[in-house]
Amino acid sequence: MAAADKPPFAGATTTEGSHAPPLHVAVVMDGNGRWAKQRGLPRSLGHRAGVEALKRTVSAAPGLGIGWLTVFGFSTENWSRPAAEVAELMALPKRYFESDIGRLEREGVRVRVIGRREGLSTELVRLVDDAQARTDHNRIFNLNIAFNYGGQADISDAARRFAEEVAAGRKAPGDLDEAMFGGLLATAGSPPPDVIVRPSGEQRLSNFLLWEAAYAELVFQDVLWPDYGEEHLKAALAEFAKRDRRYGAVVADDILAAG
Ligand code: IPE
Ligand code: MG
Repeated sequence: MAAADKPPFAGATTTEGSHAPPLHVAVVMDGNGRWAKQRGLPRSLGHRAGVEALKRTVSAAPGLGIGWLTVFGFSTENWSRPAAEVAELMALPKRYFESDIGRLEREGVRVRVIGRREGLSTELVRLVDDAQARTDHNRIFNLNIAFNYGGQADISDAARRFAEEVAAGRKAPGDLDEAMFGGLLATAGSPPPDVIVRPSGEQRLSNFLLWEAAYAELVFQDVLWPDYGEEHLKAALAEFAKRDRRYGAVVADDILAAG
């Protein structure tokens, strides 16, 4: 297809392709700083606008057939930002939960915060534990918030835990396979992401869901996260719908036959 014949990506409504809509969408929430800079605002206001975009996206996702949404809020590498910005980012979960946890609880959203707890304030850990406990029974929609998360950190933490099990005599090295290892990761219990979306124009994973990304479709969008909303999520799903998912096999029928 000539480039000129392709439907425009942003706002595209085409639903060609035969595979199911994505059950699990993961999003790298990126571009807050650039959004603020474009407006002559401090970066902190970009991050706050990013929380509003998260609210819009969480509201839109269940209606689009999505069952799991995993968002990247703070990476293990983000500690290297200036202390004032780290403090702003650390304040965002409180901002989000204070305004939205009641609604999330009522609307059947199960909230999980994935990432290392070390480094988070006692208050933040308490807030996270409370949000998880209040929504743990919910099954309509799953929101995983990756916070103080890094794919490599998560993989090495899981490997260390397995090594400890072996050292304690509770496991043998031969017990380990992909399924068991996946169950040791912070995302245990979530299906792997079908699609990883990154707005802001950057085209990399930045240490997000490295293990889980094995067969995820990657969708990059030219919109800054604070501007993100339902129409962009729909455009990402339309792009996903056009992808041919083969999982290393030859034709889709093989996948169906193999169950
Ligand atoms: C995303 O926006 C927020 C975090 C990564 C915590 P950025 O702060 O990375 O925004 P840009 O990339 O500077 O525009
Ligand atoms: Mg960025």
